[in-house]
Amino acid sequence: VPSGRCVPIAVSDTVTVPGLLGDLSPDELRAQLHRMADWVADYRASLGERAISPSAVPGEIGGRLRAADWEDSTPLEQILRDFDQIVMPGILHWGHPAFLGYFGSTSNGPALLGEIAAAALNVSAMTWKTSPAATEMEATVLDWVRELIGIPDTFFGVVYDTASIATLHALAAAREQAGAEIRRRGLAGRSDLPTHRIYASDQAHSSVEKAAIVLGIGEENVVRIQTDDDFRMDVASLREAIDLDIRAGHRPLAVVATVGTTSTGAVDPVPEIRDLCNSRSIWLHVDAAYGGAFGALEEGRWAIAGMEDADSIVVNPHKWLFVPLDFSALYTRHPEILRSVFSLVPEYLRGDTTTSGVPDYMDYGIQLGRRFRALKAWMVFRSFGRNGIVSRIREHCRLAQVFASWIDADQSFVRAAPVTMGIVCFRYQPDGIEGEEGDALNETIVDAVNAGGRTYLTRSRLNGRVVMRIGLGNVLTTEEHVAKAWQEIRSQSERIGARTSGESSLGLRVAAP
Ligand SMILES: Cc1ncc(COP(=O)(O)O)c(C=O)c1O
Repeated sequence: VPSGRCVPIAVSDTVTVPGLLGDLSPDELRAQLHRMADWVADYRASLGERAISPSAVPGEIGGRLRAADWEDSTPLEQILRDFDQIVMPGILHWGHPAFLGYFGSTSNGPALLGEIAAAALNVSAMTWKTSPAATEMEATVLDWVRELIGIPDTFFGVVYDTASIATLHALAAAREQAGAEIRRRGLAGRSDLPTHRIYASDQAHSSVEKAAIVLGIGEENVVRIQTDDDFRMDVASLREAIDLDIRAGHRPLAVVATVGTTSTGAVDPVPEIRDLCNSRSIWLHVDAAYGGAFGALEEGRWAIAGMEDADSIVVNPHKWLFVPLDFSALYTRHPEILRSVFSLVPEYLRGDTTTSGVPDYMDYGIQLGRRFRALKAWMVFRSFGRNGIVSRIREHCRLAQVFASWIDADQSFVRAAPVTMGIVCFRYQPDGIEGEEGDALNETIVDAVNAGGRTYLTRSRLNGRVVMRIGLGNVLTTEEHVAKAWQEIRSQSERIGARTSGESSLGLRVAAP
């Protein structure tokens, strides 16, 4: 065979594949789907009784999975048995009603049905022509989320997988707007470019740095602005940082304001940040990945004030609008800029684009192939209804307040941040255990609670100190679950705290986990 040449396949080279080209027959598929439906329903029904955390050791599951022979076809029975015996024991049950870690990413019946149908259809919503219904449903659910939150209809929306990717796209548009023709000319080897700077609070999500890394702006050029006692961006410090940079010849590209920070749900003062951005011609991106949903409540409107004048906004329905992973919505007032960064139509797609006013979503992002994500969102939104969504969010906020009141009533605990949304940060701080010793104690408690399998929480660091954190968002979580979680946290804290005081009096340090 001459090297570097494509060799046409000879007929005799073709292999024989089983009937139906290896797929299940329609009857077998039906039977297996029924079985899987039972499995899914049983799983959902029994979620609350399961141990949340697996006891897996790193590498163990992979080792067992790789040990399987996949040279030839494996009967489905065996594959499902392996799923049950190898995979299931390694699952951290995010959907458990007492899983209070991160944000309560939630699955639910309507979403599951949408996912199944989307998997069966397996269309790619890259252009309107390649999937008219997926494209128009995407536009519809984007409108619904926009209206729910109170974002004006001057904003154009597009769905990505995650907020990290949405922010990356928003900042790429901000970079393009700055006029340095980076799409066309790139960054490398250019002496005409100033240092680009992005500003975000010290509480902003790490996705801002990730975007800066990818966009060639550089991690160091994300300027972290200090926050006030309530973890909100300090606008005077922002102004100072921007003006200092301008005097140094840098180019401020964008400010990322957060509505609902990851650790505490704090809301940056967007109206003041907006005024500052307007006065210096800087792109304002609002990360409302979590907190946008709060704007759906009458009592949450204050949190989205000023967002209507932002250049771009990200909202994650997969955080608090009951759409399972992944589904993130980016809105921008400048779709033409986003499009000017990402639209690139190769010959083999030219016949698939449209000029009739409906979007070809491939023009607004890096991805070409795009899942039919809108279907699960549409099923959830129609099934829950706008009112149902609002009342679920309101209930989560109530549960957070109830939990916070328990913290406040217990002298051994302190609340570490104001509770505005569905997040509560707190610290176990019995008499005499403070500083790093207290940090180690709180970390040990989180690990012990999680290892117990009855509830799950995460930790963060505020004002330099480790805190425990719960995040509400699961449709299945009730006050009873939160109460049991609190009991568990308390009893583990007391148990470990007592041990720690004993060790401390002997001069021993609590070992960090
Ligand atoms: C405020 C905020 N922004 C962005 C993100 C990133 O979200 P994603 O996982 O969708 O990239 C998070 C995740 O927790 C977040 O809390």
